[in-house]
Amino acid sequence: MAVSTQPGPDDVRAYYDEFLRYRMTSNRIDGNPRIEAAISRILPLLRDTDRVLDVGCGIGIVSERLARRVTAGKVHGIDISPMNIWYAERTTRAGNLSFASHEAVNELDAASMELGGPADVVVLVDSIEHIPEADRPGFLRMLRGISSDSALLVITYPSPQYQRYLRENNPGELQVIDNSIELATLVEEAASAGYLLRHYSLECIWRPGDYCHVILQAGGSDCSRPLSQKRKSMAVRAVMKAESVLLSRIIRRYRQWRYVDRVFRRIRDHRSGEGRITDAS
Ligand SMILES: C[S@@+](CC[C@H](N)C(=O)[O-])C[C@H]1O[C@@H](n2cnc3c(N)ncnc32)[C@H](O)[C@@H]1O
Repeated sequence: MAVSTQPGPDDVRAYYDEFLRYRMTSNRIDGNPRIEAAISRILPLLRDTDRVLDVGCGIGIVSERLARRVTAGKVHGIDISPMNIWYAERTTRAGNLSFASHEAVNELDAASMELGGPADVVVLVDSIEHIPEADRPGFLRMLRGISSDSALLVITYPSPQYQRYLRENNPGELQVIDNSIELATLVEEAASAGYLLRHYSLECIWRPGDYCHVILQAGGSDCSRPLSQKRKSMAVRAVMKAESVLLSRIIRRYRQWRYVDRVFRRIRDHRSGEGRITDAS
């Protein structure tokens, strides 16, 4: 009898609980151009009142930035890793932002209940490639089922050519489940789920053409949402430049304290009690 080698949800959860400490916190301290590119893609699409679901939200960096934009709406972030959610809840600040630990394929209904109504925008930032391939078509159908009539689905993920490059040159960078997703396959699966392609681009984050940005729309006939990224004004570019210069050792030290030392100092033993997370009093 053939034995499946596909990691199950418990393996994936354990992997990302561990991933938090050695990888995710650095996104808070040093920033991450992949995340910034995704945020820049998503922000211009949002309306003040949108209800947004961030699936595979990690430590909530994207969720927090989106929540600041949808001032009369809300953002709910879900992630399989309780550690990521634990950390997100301690390091984000926004009144219209919530988090919960859920496995995306099997626990989407719970996430939808928590969101409190149909999602207007669902975002998958570097998470769709971690959904088991066989589950993806059904997962897209479920996303459509919990979304409003002309909801957007924004997906950013490593391009198949970048995945091939990593497989050949740096396999240690690949995560526990890390699929290559061809655009044609994704568009076909999304179409069966009731989405039409509104935007596709190949981005250059670290290497030419390493990331795909895809915007899908339920129904596909509502063209009232702007989809393009606005070019940043000179003032905004000047501020960004000044910010990068200011990212001095002092700021980096502050971030180390705010996002790592302060948070983990309070943890007594997050591994005790089968993954239960305990704060020291
Ligand atoms: C590469 S990280 C991206 C996190 C975040 N979106 C970002 O861009 O920083 C992938 C995230 O997907 C989550 N994830 C992986 N498989 C999942 C699943 N089946 N259900 C829910 N979350 C999952 C992981 O825990 C991890 O936080």
